Amino acid sequence: MKVFITGSQGCLGTAFQELLKSERINYLGVDIHQLDICDVKRLNEAIFNYQPDVICHFAAVSDVDLCEREPDMAFRVNTLATLGIALIARKINAKLLYTSTNFIFDGNKETPYFEYDQPNPVSEYGKTKYLGEKYIKEVHNRYYIVRTAWLFGKNAKTFATKFLTQKEKPHSINVICDQIGSFTYVQDLAEAIFNIIKSENYGTYHIVNSEYGTWLDFLLKAKELMRFNTELVPVKTEELNLPAPRPKFAPLGSKNYEFLFEKKMRPWKDALTDFIKTVILSNK
Ligand SMILES: NC(=O)c1ccc[n+]([C@@H]2O[C@H](COP(=O)([O-])OP(=O)(O)OC[C@H]3O[C@@H](n4cnc5c(N)ncnc54)[C@H](OP(=O)(O)O)[C@@H]3O)[C@@H](O)[C@H]2O)c1
Repeated sequence: MKVFITGSQGCLGTAFQELLKSERINYLGVDIHQLDICDVKRLNEAIFNYQPDVICHFAAVSDVDLCEREPDMAFRVNTLATLGIALIARKINAKLLYTSTNFIFDGNKETPYFEYDQPNPVSEYGKTKYLGEKYIKEVHNRYYIVRTAWLFGKNAKTFATKFLTQKEKPHSINVICDQIGSFTYVQDLAEAIFNIIKSENYGTYHIVNSEYGTWLDFLLKAKELMRFNTELVPVKTEELNLPAPRPKFAPLGSKNYEFLFEKKMRPWKDALTDFIKTVILSNK
């Protein structure tokens, strides 16, 4: 199996490359410094020359507020470039795995979102990622859409990971306490993606750690495990005046994956404990 990866220097891209390396799988990873995915001609050349069996398309503008401020740019990268990649995948008959997000849902449900729930994005990021999903379905049939949420782990850009990996911690920080979602340890996500691409089980998957909470729950658990002194000050989303609206309640349930692959996604608290022990406290 040969795997072509976009967004290879991002949080998921890095974890996934490490996994492929340990499994001795051939891969070629590109990121924006080598190749802008909006340059479809060059992307076409790179993929065509490599002739992968699978394309893992992780590259995206994942900063939700930046997407809100620059919707045209977000549409080009998250939607149009995804269409370009889907057309290339079809041309060379490669499998295509695309990572999407729980932000395609509006957050008005009171129980976790499953793969069959109707998307209704409320932000530009959510819209552009959802349109990426739709374009893929229109042009290709060997696709896997993997929706995930709130990544943590080495290289994650999320505020909580940055805080946990910071050596000198501040006296206090504000932490959002009124958005409820799923957390996903990037290693667990990489492993699930690897299982999925080895199969012919095409379709849509939600991949997150089980159980859910707020970022405040997450950092309180981390504080209990790491015993740092920083005071965690609860704040409501509206107090922060962020450009992009966020769904208030958007946990995902990994039903399709757990059923088809006979796997259980572990609870986020177990995954967080693992991350703290094996990466943060051991300085890896
Ligand atoms: N992070 C989360 O919490 C989260 C939640 C749900 C879904 N997802 C999805 O999961 C996937 C991976 O997320 P991640 O956290 O690994 O994201 P990430 O760390 O932001 O990685 C994405 C990579 O893509 C690169 N990129 C951006 N624009 C590009 C372009 N025009 N051409 C080529 N490369 C480009 C980024 O470079 P720069 O860093 O220079 O921009 C970055 O290295 C994304 O599809 C994201 O939408 C993420």
